Amino acid sequence: MISSHPLTTWIAFVAAGLSLNCGAPPPMNTSEGESPYAAHEVAPGELDEYYGFQSGGQSGEVRVIGIPSMRIFKRIPVWNLDSASGWGITNESKSMMGGKVVGDTHHVHGSYVDGTYDGKWLFVNDKANNRLARIRIDQMKVDATLEIPHTQGTHGTFPQRAPKTEWVILNSEFRTPLVNDGRGALLDESTYGGVHTIVNAETMKVVAQVQTMVNLDLAATDYNGKFSFATSYNSEGGATISEMLASDLDYLVVFNWDRIKEALAGNAYQTVDGIPILDGSEGSSLTAYIPVPKNPHGVNVSPDGNYAVVSGKVSPTASVIDISKLDDVFAGNLEPREAVVAEPEIGLGPLHTTYDGRGNAYTSLFIDSQEVKWNLQRAIELQANPQEGQTAVVDRLDVHYQVGHTMASMAETNEADGRYLISLNKISKDRFLNVGPLKPENDQLIDISGDSMVLLKDESAYVEPHDIIIVRRDIIEDKVLHRVRLEDHPEAVTESSVVRDGNKVTVRVTATAPMYGLQEVVVNEGDEVTYIVTNTDEIPDLSHGFAISNYNIQLIVSPFETKSVTFIADKPGVYWIYCTTFCHALHLEMRMRFVVRAQGT
Ligand code: CUA
Ligand code: CA
Repeated sequence: MISSHPLTTWIAFVAAGLSLNCGAPPPMNTSEGESPYAAHEVAPGELDEYYGFQSGGQSGEVRVIGIPSMRIFKRIPVWNLDSASGWGITNESKSMMGGKVVGDTHHVHGSYVDGTYDGKWLFVNDKANNRLARIRIDQMKVDATLEIPHTQGTHGTFPQRAPKTEWVILNSEFRTPLVNDGRGALLDESTYGGVHTIVNAETMKVVAQVQTMVNLDLAATDYNGKFSFATSYNSEGGATISEMLASDLDYLVVFNWDRIKEALAGNAYQTVDGIPILDGSEGSSLTAYIPVPKNPHGVNVSPDGNYAVVSGKVSPTASVIDISKLDDVFAGNLEPREAVVAEPEIGLGPLHTTYDGRGNAYTSLFIDSQEVKWNLQRAIELQANPQEGQTAVVDRLDVHYQVGHTMASMAETNEADGRYLISLNKISKDRFLNVGPLKPENDQLIDISGDSMVLLKDESAYVEPHDIIIVRRDIIEDKVLHRVRLEDHPEAVTESSVVRDGNKVTVRVTATAPMYGLQEVVVNEGDEVTYIVTNTDEIPDLSHGFAISNYNIQLIVSPFETKSVTFIADKPGVYWIYCTTFCHALHLEMRMRFVVRAQGT
């Protein structure tokens, strides 16, 4: 454990990490003779073996990539304005964004049945505006959103893994007053708290919030539907960085779901803004506070469901919590710290841990810029019987540089297969062509199928993917549609028309290659105009665009899809509406006039 003069030591560590790695040659763990890359190449026309679902950080989106090719297939707009699809412009998307077009996605996780992905939904948080979005995988599009009350820094997000995803939990990284209305002793941080929010995955409504006095950062659930976990780096309840680094130990907070359900059934809560608020502070029957070294970040449960591994950012250790001991901790038969069955030293700045399904853990080391592979059982044995010179560490691989999240294929399921690992590095430095002061990230693909890790690929990424899940293709591909159904949108247009009601004009228009269903629409300046556009082409991949010149409107409708947009016709004149998606040899001719008569003419 490092010195308890926290701030200066931490800053020195980070600086050392940066300068050490900066000039290092790119090491490559290749076996002699044959190229390690050939077996992982995806030739032209071939398909990838895995889908990667990656958060897009402050870009507000979710990205869909192929693994091992690392090709980006899709950017799913979530908390961002997307000119291409019209997300943030159409009425359908605006209704899910609540007028806020920025966001910060950190954690994407899939819905589960019996401990593995069912291919139905993805869930993703918004740390900036405190929201949760659900993405339906069949269309790879957001279908529900929720604002989380009483919280800021909505960070750790994890779905229930068994028997199926009924709950999704989210943590507040930033402590705030529970009712944050600008009243009371606002600068007295001892009155602040965090909440562990439980959301119903189906209805996307808040079930309850378990309040703690400590902050709650990253999240995980177990494989039995019994517990959820939150790391807490601010057990001190501080408001400044040095206050948050004062203690040598912080917490892994464990939430007991049976007891939460009992408390809800027994009305053992207060209601604030219509939401049940349960007491989860230290000493409450709903929670266990397990001391772990300093400012922990990630918490990841091993695929066998037996262990939760927590890493202290400012301690060179990983703490292994034996989940089977938690019942005894809750029963008061075991001190919380006794649930920690190993705490191996693994390197500097450990953040997140992932697994290969063969008993090995892989932890990202931010300061060392490494992935470290270590054996869980070996760590537990050495904790019980320390042996001079023996370590649980099996292998180390330098990454480039300053790795944050790391994830192995299927590692957050009970089907972890130990094929690939992705290292999401925050800094790319000299690895790519210079593109100006804002550099790309470096997502590195690593082969973990053998004894040693082998670096396969550098892939640049726009700021700033935080996390990824790597999902076997067979779980996803059969569920993804080529075409929606016309009736999925209640206002789908099959016959074009213009209907006026006072100063409201509703234009229903079909888009069928290479024509819109209308040639012109005439309205008066000041009218409120709604365009409802349906793509009536049923051929997969035949999308149409719909841009209104000078009116700041653009959207895409894919086969049988309908989108609508409402705006005030405030600019008199003749404006061309045109198709923005190359759909036909006469794509350029696919346009219509939008005529706005000036007032009083
Ligand atoms: Cu329709 Cu281009
Ligand atoms: Ca702390």
